[in-house]
Amino acid sequence: MTTTPPSGSLVDPFGRLHTDLRVSVTDRCNIRCQYCMPADGVVFKPHDAILTFEEIERVVRVAASLGVRKVRLTGGEPLVRHGICRLVRMLSAIPGIVELAMTTNGVRLGEFAEELRRSGLQRLNISLDTVDREKFRQIARRDALPKVLRGIVAARRAGFQHIKINAVALRGQSEDDVVPLARFAREHGLELRFIEFMPLDGANRWQAGDVLASDEILRLLSEGVGPLEPIPESEVHGVATEYRFADGIGRVGVIASVSQPFCHQCGRIRLTAEGRLRNCLFSPEEWDVRSLLRGGGSDEQLIAMFQAAIGAKRAARGAEDGQFARSGRAMYQIGG
Ligand code: 5AD
Ligand code: SF4
Repeated sequence: MTTTPPSGSLVDPFGRLHTDLRVSVTDRCNIRCQYCMPADGVVFKPHDAILTFEEIERVVRVAASLGVRKVRLTGGEPLVRHGICRLVRMLSAIPGIVELAMTTNGVRLGEFAEELRRSGLQRLNISLDTVDREKFRQIARRDALPKVLRGIVAARRAGFQHIKINAVALRGQSEDDVVPLARFAREHGLELRFIEFMPLDGANRWQAGDVLASDEILRLLSEGVGPLEPIPESEVHGVATEYRFADGIGRVGVIASVSQPFCHQCGRIRLTAEGRLRNCLFSPEEWDVRSLLRGGGSDEQLIAMFQAAIGAKRAARGAEDGQFARSGRAMYQIGG
């Protein structure tokens, strides 16, 4: 493999190496999950405010020269961005990027799975909180479950391996979905991950009591499906704590972003759709990459901006004591 030698790596003041870049390609979405977007009145960015594919490619190239190895495309919903497969082809050709992934709600996967795979996308995370059609309609405010299920089938048929299902866990809402989701995932050979509800909802209504904590999810799973065995940390990459079912069928992870924050092992940096670098989901600070790009800035200046963002990283963002610093933006405006 030909990798450009890194001209310095993205190591923050706490020694954390950053190799994972999340790129939001749009703030738009074709559904309206309650924990992410308000029901209506969402004002999206105008098209010219959003980075072009060429601009994104340039940022990713520079990031790769700084040791970024993994890129995840997010949104909003990445599959509503026109021509997304062309971006996938552009990014998959960048030396140094060894993993190109996408987080999608799956609604349009039936249309795109095959082309995404051919374009070089390696991994898919599909957001799915319930396998009950009416419940899905309530959560997402759109009757889109059948399309998502078709999308999952299309993704498997297209040859994607290790497809992950992401479910956001809310107290008083998700308890009844945990076991059916696990059964569905086991049946279809999908990995399942529960994510604790974080204060990134558009409506700004998050309260600590709304979080269905990981230990409770694990209890529901072991009682309703079967015993779980922890997978050693050394075999797990990323922020989920993973388990396998003792009967050998399937694995499940929990992302305890609220009850057991993992800031100490954070290696992520984010690029928003309108070209702002962010060093944390919960930090209001942003670095204006778009102005730099459009003002004729050099790669060296871009590198300096990456280093500034990483240099300003905090050890943790108030998550330790459950007192999250509100970032002022919802998930669809940042990128998951
Ligand atoms: N808390 C936790 N996860 C969330 N997501 C969206 N909003 C929230 C929230 N408030 C998830 C989506 C998707 C990923 C991008 O982030 O369900 O899986
Ligand atoms: Fe759309 Fe994802 Fe937000 Fe749901 S969580 S509204 S799918 S961007």
